[in-house]
Amino acid sequence: MTDTDRRRQPVTDGGSPVPVGVKIGSTRTVIAFPAPDGGVQVIRTLTCLAEYKNPITGETKYAYGDNAAAEYPDSVEFPLRSGLPDSGHQTERTAQFFDAVVDSHDVPEDSVVVYVTPLSENTTGQENLGRVIADSPIGTGGIERYPEMLCGAIPAFGDGLEAIETVFAAMNLGATHVESAAFRRGEQVAPYRTAAVSGNEVDRKIISNVENETQSRVHIDINTAREYKEQHASFENFEPLTDVIQQPGGGRHEFTIGRSIMDPVEEYLDTVVAHFAGEFLPQLSGQYQRVQRLALDQPVVLTGGMACLPGFVEECQQRLGEAVDTEMTVTAPDRPDIAPAIGAQRIASRLVR
Ligand SMILES: Nc1ncnc2c1ncn2[C@@H]1O[C@H](COP(=O)(O)OP(=O)(O)OP(=O)(O)O)[C@@H](O)[C@H]1O
Ligand SMILES: [Mg+2]
Repeated sequence: MTDTDRRRQPVTDGGSPVPVGVKIGSTRTVIAFPAPDGGVQVIRTLTCLAEYKNPITGETKYAYGDNAAAEYPDSVEFPLRSGLPDSGHQTERTAQFFDAVVDSHDVPEDSVVVYVTPLSENTTGQENLGRVIADSPIGTGGIERYPEMLCGAIPAFGDGLEAIETVFAAMNLGATHVESAAFRRGEQVAPYRTAAVSGNEVDRKIISNVENETQSRVHIDINTAREYKEQHASFENFEPLTDVIQQPGGGRHEFTIGRSIMDPVEEYLDTVVAHFAGEFLPQLSGQYQRVQRLALDQPVVLTGGMACLPGFVEECQQRLGEAVDTEMTVTAPDRPDIAPAIGAQRIASRLVR
């Protein structure tokens, strides 16, 4: 299941390849390509797959994405759970997943693909990810890669590629890590990355908090914790959450949790702000003092799924201003989770032309 289940024919104008933007993230994969109505259609799905057996033929089959996570919570595999694919197995599974998604949504093969990559020194992982795209059916018209953060910031600056003409700073709030950099007309400077704070870490803390808050009566898995966070965490109007679990011996247990979700999210934001103000900005000003001044004339752009939480951007602006003792402006694209693929798709459109 994805944001759009529309299956329509791709638009090609007079036979030129179709521009496609791709993000294969550790948690979610997002693909953006032209819709028949002239807009952009977006596929957004969990980067996961689950193996099952056809009970009649005994054949091994696979379910993908959100369906796999919902139907096989016990055995679902996220091949990129810990980041870029290091091993042959992870690469193979990622390719299998990606090819299935591309195929089931009829993403045009005759396409120019721009895909995004996170900041990472893991060159093997970067190469393996590149191989997944290169060996997939799409991108016969060419394949390019750009930083996830830069692409994610593009929709925050306008309807075109204004971001590429600008000097600004950005922060990408991912599932496995947080990254920051300044961008100078598209060139990335002073990149900073830390895995000490991540969306996944918030999920793990929610698991143990729920256990504590329910006196060990409720144990949730990591996917449930992620859903609690994505659907309920809010800096604007958080309300205690009531849910029901089936108990192993049978019977239902209803429970309500209060601070289990927001405590780790609050801590997450504080840590993110501390890293940006205490590590990234000093590093940037140490190397590029004037660039920093120019960059901070623009709003700091937040991208990545964690910036989707209601009120996150405003709260981040407030706390960042306090941390650096100057007024700061923080902004985000409309949909920080899908923005990297949207930005990549715009670059692909430019390349096609
Ligand atoms: N709509 C949403 N609301 C709240 N949180 C979200 C939302 N979408 C994603 N997240 C959370 O944001 C985090 C990052 O999501 P994102 O899709 O940007 O990660 P990713 O690109 O797959 O991960 P990585 O960059 O680490 O490979 C995850 O922890 C996810 O649970
Ligand atoms: Mg990401």
